[in-house]
Amino acid sequence: MEHIGRTERERPRRLRSSPKLRALVSETSIDPSHLVTPIFVKEGAGTKEKIDAMPGVFRFSPDEELEKEINELSSLGINAVLLFGLPAQKDQVGSEAYNPDGVVQKAIRRIKRVNEDMIVVSDVCMCEYTQHGHCGILDRNGVVENDKTNEYLGRIALSHAKAGADIVAPSAMMDGQVRAIRQSLDTEGFESLPIMAYSAKYASAFYGPFREAAGSAPRFGDRKSYQMDSRNVREAIRETQLDVDQGADIIMVKPALPYLDVISEMKRRFALPLAAYNVSGEYSMIKAASINGWIEEERVVEETLHSIKRAGADIIITYFAKQYLSSSRRSKSS
Ligand code: PBG
Repeated sequence: MEHIGRTERERPRRLRSSPKLRALVSETSIDPSHLVTPIFVKEGAGTKEKIDAMPGVFRFSPDEELEKEINELSSLGINAVLLFGLPAQKDQVGSEAYNPDGVVQKAIRRIKRVNEDMIVVSDVCMCEYTQHGHCGILDRNGVVENDKTNEYLGRIALSHAKAGADIVAPSAMMDGQVRAIRQSLDTEGFESLPIMAYSAKYASAFYGPFREAAGSAPRFGDRKSYQMDSRNVREAIRETQLDVDQGADIIMVKPALPYLDVISEMKRRFALPLAAYNVSGEYSMIKAASINGWIEEERVVEETLHSIKRAGADIIITYFAKQYLSSSRRSKSS
């Protein structure tokens, strides 16, 4: 009999012949319970405001408008939101960020009232609350003071915990911020409250649309003295190890797409749940191309989410969560 070599017998196409067969052998899937959707809450009443640079994303006042959105999200199977606040006023020390009646604190209470089971993650940072737009307290020379900022971050996280947040997520990139927040929470009886640490957060131009959405662009300079350099991956390992040592419960890489290698590196190195933040610029680029008719949006979104999962993310934070689940529901029922 004629000898058939291994390469001639190998036909990967055998497993690609039908949608069901392809699904059977698929290695990756997007489970709604792993998606987190960011929400912008803005002081005021009865508002649902468009964000120009992020079509399809809105700012909600912490009232019925927010309630409606939460109900819609839970009907789609989304179990977790990440809150960002736009306060009525800003000052040098971001005092609205830890005001017990601040916009995020109000939003947390409101969400918990309509849906106790919705997991509320709160972003812990100062850039939306300071006049200068930096993520911390400035010294006389306009440099962000690390340890002083940590005291404030501890205070902000605690106020979110008291309002009912389920997870706090520090994004200021101060050294020791996870430890400071852990201590602040523990001394007030919140030792069971998890911290999702923005461990490897890069100084990224992909945050552009977010800064319009949250009104948080720095008034001078940039964030390169605290956020990470895009050339580095070993530094990301070191940053993440520090967060783990300080008590992080979930680690994060941000942005996602330009840092898929970092995501897979973190997955290999750390046993903690790993989140990836598919940020505003990643969202808006797809939207812009789609509005111009240059790409098929639904397919691009699905492919994007698959890439982040495949790289190793357990949790995906994405502005596409709602849209993705409504369209996958549509395609299932058709
Ligand atoms: C706050 C913060 C930012 C983002 C999340 N938290 C902006 C920044 O660091 O300038 C960006 C999120 C996004 O672009 O979607 N520090």
